Amino acid sequence: MSSLLLLLLLLLLLLLSAPASPLEFRYHDNSEMEQYLLHVNASYPDITHLHSIGQSVRGQELWVLVLGRTPTRHTVGIPEFKYIANMHGNEVLGRVLLLQLIDHLVRGYRDNEPWSSRLLNSTRIHILPTMNPDGFDAADTHCLYSQGRFNFNGVDLNRNFPDAFAGRRRAVIGWLRTESFVLSANLHGGALVASYPYDNSNGGSELVGGASVTPDNDVFVHLAKVYSFHHTSMHRGDSCHDSRPFLDGITNGYQWYPLPGGMQDYNYVWSQCLEVTLEVSCCKFPPVQQLPVLWRDNQRALLAFMQQVHLGVKGRVLDSSGVPVQNAVVEVKGRRNLCPFRSDQHGEYYRLLLPGNYTFTVTFPGHEVLTETLSVPYGPERFSALTHDFRLRRAAAPTSGPAPTPGPTLTSSISSASVSLAPVS
Ligand SMILES: *[C@@H]1O[C@H](CO)[C@@H](O)[C@H](O)[C@H]1NC(C)=O
Ligand SMILES: *[C@@H]1O[C@H](CO)[C@@H](O)[C@H](O)[C@H]1NC(C)=O
Ligand SMILES: *[C@@H]1O[C@H](CO)[C@@H](O)[C@H](O)[C@H]1NC(C)=O
Ligand SMILES: [Zn+2]
Repeated sequence: MSSLLLLLLLLLLLLLSAPASPLEFRYHDNSEMEQYLLHVNASYPDITHLHSIGQSVRGQELWVLVLGRTPTRHTVGIPEFKYIANMHGNEVLGRVLLLQLIDHLVRGYRDNEPWSSRLLNSTRIHILPTMNPDGFDAADTHCLYSQGRFNFNGVDLNRNFPDAFAGRRRAVIGWLRTESFVLSANLHGGALVASYPYDNSNGGSELVGGASVTPDNDVFVHLAKVYSFHHTSMHRGDSCHDSRPFLDGITNGYQWYPLPGGMQDYNYVWSQCLEVTLEVSCCKFPPVQQLPVLWRDNQRALLAFMQQVHLGVKGRVLDSSGVPVQNAVVEVKGRRNLCPFRSDQHGEYYRLLLPGNYTFTVTFPGHEVLTETLSVPYGPERFSALTHDFRLRRAAAPTSGPAPTPGPTLTSSISSASVSLAPVS
């Protein structure tokens, strides 16, 4: 082989292996965003999976990019995490941040950067960069106004979930039924604060000093602070001159302003998914030249928050023959969830908890009530929650078994119609 040919070959190899340039800091429109996601999906087939969960009112696909070592399906023991942005079409920083986050993770994994590799090894991450592409198309670039907030039918998507306290069960996102999400955040703009459930109240015992407090309030406060304190300024709580101060950059949703039909209450109460609402920029449509700085402000917070999916305890509920069971009630003493947490279709449960000792009660028809106390370490630094399987024993007589805790089963009782994601007729 001539040396010239060798040189050419070498050059070709270099070109093929050279890292493509990083994602540009600008507002990609919906079709550019789609092109980018298709490109990532094609370039990283081992760790990404792109699929559409439905269409907007105007027929635009709602693309979700899944990242992880087994991106196309759930793996027992690997928690499911999600980020959603641009639910309000005119609050646009979140979609820029999520595209940058995708870029950061796939490059990190490709370059064997340890943190990204450990995260993608241990976690399945779902990213929906825009929940309201029609609203984005209609948005003007004003910092405050609401042009583009609503979907094409004039519906505010964050007032349109079945309300946790209304007792009605109108409709729900089909997506939430297909995956057992454990932790989630929804990115908005117009303030700088991490807001956590509840957003609403029915005036019951959850109302404490103007806040509507969940049984997992300690975990929610921790999650919100993980974001605000990893953000360069959110934790100071005073960054937007036109907004009221937030202590530590966090707030109970209801205490800020009551909001029926919001997505975070819905996720928590009906999907066993702890979700917070992240207001990531004072200006809803920041000038394009500010995007690099805004990414830098949020980058560590976005990464650290995902790692929190490894809080607490995870495992399976097994029946007397060692077979995983669905719909076993897994309760933690002192935490009375409106809808008790149950094992999913894989027999798995995930319970986000801060380090400490917790007494679990597991209930399943025909089996003895199982009570166990677990000592829970801090999982995120190990990229794994404590793993513990509950082994049930068959009750002596079938009829003497404990009555199943009343309450809807998550997989069967929720209507599959979706007000928010399917076109509204
Ligand atoms: C993503 O990539 C895979 C593997 O190359 C391909 O089979 C699939 O069709 C792609 N998905 C989309 C939505 O293009
Ligand atoms: C990710 O998992 C693979 C396969 O189990 C392993 O070889 C690799 O060392 C892991 N990477 C990290 C950073 O833990
Ligand atoms: C949890 O229980 C262990 C004993 O099992 C004990 O050593 C430890 O101090 C307890 N931790 C807390 C936070 O109570
Ligand atoms: Zn919003």
